[in-house]
Amino acid sequence: MDFKLTEEHLMIRDAARDFARNELLPGVIERDEKQEFPTEQVKRMGELGFLGMMVDPQYGGGGMDTVAYVLAMEEISKIDASCSVIVSVNNSLVCWGLETYGNEEQKQKYLTKLATGESIGAFCLSEPEAGSDATSQRTTAIDMGDHYVLNGTKNWITNGSSADYYLVIAQTHKEKKHKGINAFIVEKNWEGFEIGPKEQKLGIRGSDTHSLIFNDVKVPKENRIGEDGFGFKFAMKTLSGGRIGIAAQALGIAAGAYELALKYSKERKAFGTEICNHQAIAFKLADMHTQIEAARHLVMKAAKDKDNHENYDLSGAMAKLYASKVAMDTAIEAVQIHGGNGYVKEYHVERLMRDAKITQIYEGTSEIQKIVISRAILKD
Ligand code: CAA
Ligand code: FAD
Repeated sequence: MDFKLTEEHLMIRDAARDFARNELLPGVIERDEKQEFPTEQVKRMGELGFLGMMVDPQYGGGGMDTVAYVLAMEEISKIDASCSVIVSVNNSLVCWGLETYGNEEQKQKYLTKLATGESIGAFCLSEPEAGSDATSQRTTAIDMGDHYVLNGTKNWITNGSSADYYLVIAQTHKEKKHKGINAFIVEKNWEGFEIGPKEQKLGIRGSDTHSLIFNDVKVPKENRIGEDGFGFKFAMKTLSGGRIGIAAQALGIAAGAYELALKYSKERKAFGTEICNHQAIAFKLADMHTQIEAARHLVMKAAKDKDNHENYDLSGAMAKLYASKVAMDTAIEAVQIHGGNGYVKEYHVERLMRDAKITQIYEGTSEIQKIVISRAILKD
């Protein structure tokens, strides 16, 4: 497989790298500590085109491919995974879902704002009783003729309080099980829509995660996405691409931790020499480098599959499964290489270690990725 990057890809990667170093790095520790949403930084990401990268320019997007998107995700994640999850949700769940399955009116009304970053989106599938088991949706959307009435609770929603528009999955025809589920565009200020308290989190603490409560929220029929009953397929198809974004996030966390560990190992001395000269440390670096390269190949393969209009359910799941493990393993070793300094905030690696964990949980846990992968290989 040819992973040669074009001039445009290199430009986007360098722009994301510069932005992350110059505008995300200052204040990243403080935002993590205070669980502060990166309002200014998100605004800048919108201005720089990072929030609607793959959207057709006619709707205000950058018209770029998935390879460009994963390159930007990796660079932003090296520095601030709280920002990259916002990029990921807005690009690969909300914008992609709307552009691919929304109708022209929905695109004009919502996508044009989401692609430019004027508005932010959220993707609301998980519920207190329906996380991995996503078909067991308890939130209901009752068909009232010209509108639906939405009732229920969504859990752990990224951009929960900062979003303007929410893609909400709900059950309309319980008897039809997953074939009775629908997806809706819900606006924040609609009556009956309540945002629950902010979750206190281990990692990605700058990103705001909330439960959302719907009490008789009236959703106009024109805000349903696709045909009646398309909602579960909508969620699954959208998540297949979303997982490539999270795989790139995991890759970025791993690469960020590795770069810090490599630098530190060349500076820190113990027993009369730089610690990288101790084979135990050098071998850790060798493992990290090898695993990161392998993860990068899986991420690029999945991105290329998507760009080449090939099936990417399997390659995306493999990329996420592997890259998220590499993120966790690499970040833990990066802390180890930093010794005591690894345990304090100013060296960044402890935050990367805390941030890494979520990549094995959201957009389908590692166990769920193994279900997707094993079903695909057994079917073949
Ligand atoms: N594309 C299209 N359709 C798909 C699909 C895909 N990738 N995967 C499944 N489907 C379809 C199936 O074909 C089936 O439809 P038919 O009956 O018409 O064939 C239907 O969906 C149900 O599929 P399964 O029978 O396979 O359903 P299941 O109950 O066994 O569950 C699952 C499948 C893969 C485990 C799914 O429930 C799942 O992905 N769970 C994880 C949920 C998840 O990833 N949540 C993430 C929330 S968003 C998030 O987390 C964002 C963030 O943090 C930033
Ligand atoms: P459960 O499904 O209860 O799983 C618990 C454990 O059991 C896991 O280890 C799981 O892998 C395992 N397990 C479950 N079923 C099986 C099985 N069949 N075989 C083997 N093992 C199994 N959701 C959204 O919809 N939108 C968002 O924006 C969003 N953002 C999030 C942000 C954060 C910070 C967090 C923490 C979560 C977010 N989520 C979001 C929810 C996330 O997608 C779910 O937490 C995830 O899908 C797992 O669901 P669960 O927490 O209910 O775990």
